[in-house]
Amino acid sequence: MWNKVALRSVCKHCPQPASLLPPRLPPLSRAFRRTCLGPSSDRQRAQAAQNGAGALPGCLPSKARRRRCAQMYPVLDGRVPPAYRHVFEENFRNSEAVIKRYSELLQVVSKGGGDNAVLRHTQRNKKLFVRERLKLLLDEEPFLELSPLAGLSMPYGDVPAAGCLTGIGKICGIWCVFVANDATVKGGTIYPIGVKKQLRAQEIAMQNRLVSVYLVDSGGAFLPLQSELFPDKLHGGRIFYNEAIISAMKIPQVAVVCGSCVAGGAYVPTMAEETVIVDKIGTLFLAGPPLVRAATGEYVSPEDLGGATLHSRVSGCSDHFASSEKEAYECVRNIISTLNYEPVPEELMEHDHPLYSSDELLGLAPRDYSCTLPVKLAEAQANRLKAQASMMAAVACAAVPKITIVIGGCFGSESYAMCGRSFSPNFLFLWPNARVALVDSRHLSMVPQAGDSDCTDESELKHLKQKLEEESSAFYSSARLWDDGVILPQNTRKVIAQCLQIIEQQKYQVLPPYQYPVMRM
Ligand code: COA
Repeated sequence: MWNKVALRSVCKHCPQPASLLPPRLPPLSRAFRRTCLGPSSDRQRAQAAQNGAGALPGCLPSKARRRRCAQMYPVLDGRVPPAYRHVFEENFRNSEAVIKRYSELLQVVSKGGGDNAVLRHTQRNKKLFVRERLKLLLDEEPFLELSPLAGLSMPYGDVPAAGCLTGIGKICGIWCVFVANDATVKGGTIYPIGVKKQLRAQEIAMQNRLVSVYLVDSGGAFLPLQSELFPDKLHGGRIFYNEAIISAMKIPQVAVVCGSCVAGGAYVPTMAEETVIVDKIGTLFLAGPPLVRAATGEYVSPEDLGGATLHSRVSGCSDHFASSEKEAYECVRNIISTLNYEPVPEELMEHDHPLYSSDELLGLAPRDYSCTLPVKLAEAQANRLKAQASMMAAVACAAVPKITIVIGGCFGSESYAMCGRSFSPNFLFLWPNARVALVDSRHLSMVPQAGDSDCTDESELKHLKQKLEEESSAFYSSARLWDDGVILPQNTRKVIAQCLQIIEQQKYQVLPPYQYPVMRM
């Protein structure tokens, strides 16, 4: 990720600049291939033999290579020094507490709009719950759900999973982004946080060139919050704008109409390249029967106004008629399997195993956040501002995939230098113990307050500290989509591996030559 020149300027005044400057790394795929598959050319093989490196595909790096790496990067021996044992144990206890909270929140979210709403959705409306839909759509292997805690404790109440599930999962071996409305949350209507979540999913699709699948079951805008949903640039309309842009970028989008798609909800499937509509369940209209009746006095059934038959026979808004939801998801899998996308070859997946158990990360997830890299850099050199600016420029302009994991505190400018949200990493996750804020609440007494009297007001300061503490928690951040989700420390390696595969996939895509979006004529 580092630009060598910029890093040099950052490290100029550091006591050990060399330790911060990694040697020039080959591009990700080349490095990955070389580690996993061994040297490719005769010259490389000869060189590898000289170095003692194994030449068999899939072999682990040799001892010599490990020794060389150990010289470049300090290797921890895995033992916690007795003097720090209490810190490890404190961290461990804190991790267990925040992970418990994380599991409780996930449990709440997994129920969507609540038991009654799920019953109404499945029994009365004869529809599948959104998680069941994903089971039929995706391959039987773990998928990466994005921001499941988004929408909790918002100023306008709890909106479980922001009313729509998003993530990246495999369909017939191809990583695809999915956006699936949860109609048990207020009829799948779109809240401001839901717009943000869908826009983020689309951004991921664009940045990583991923096929998108939309499972649409939405009453359109959540009307009481209309002024936060329309008409600004990053409001609801941006979802449709993005669909056109994604289409012009030659990234396929497929939609399933698996419920009522009213108003804004109707544009998503209509702008997708291919759309499947489910008979008796899917309807698509700009205004539903009650509005038609209010405007014209005419009684019309949802099916006649915009059902599967009408859109498949007359309007052309859908391409495939499915007699059941199951058939619709099979149809999508069939569509994806015939795109010009190749799965990332399996042989590139071989990897080394970590030296230590990932559970030990719980004791390393800091409860005390004061010791982060930029703080150390700042202590070590005089021209902090200039150095940070160079670092930020290097991070912003580095043309490589970026994955950020916040494992402790991330305060103020640390977020910029370490590729926080505003620096557009491909993915950004938090550990549950992480804290993200402009300032660390523990340092608040040192921050000058506006007005003299404020400075001396103890209770106000206490209140402000409490507010900062609350607003810096990982769950507060994730609820607002300042990240792509909270992940467990033990799962970090798995999540990063998934992200790397997802990013890698675009290399196996065959691009058609045209440069314009698909238009329904
Ligand atoms: N804004 C705010 N709340 C809405 C809403 C909207 N556009 N559409 C539905 N809701 C709420 C309902 O009030 C109800 O709330 P409750 O559970 O607190 O009673 C909940 O969502 C579920 O609605 P309900 O009609 O009971 O469920 P349903 O599954 O039978 O139908 C819809 C869902 C979305 C098809 C139907 O409610 C509908 O057609 N809504 C109007 C959509 C519309 O006109 N949108 C225009 C947006 S510009």
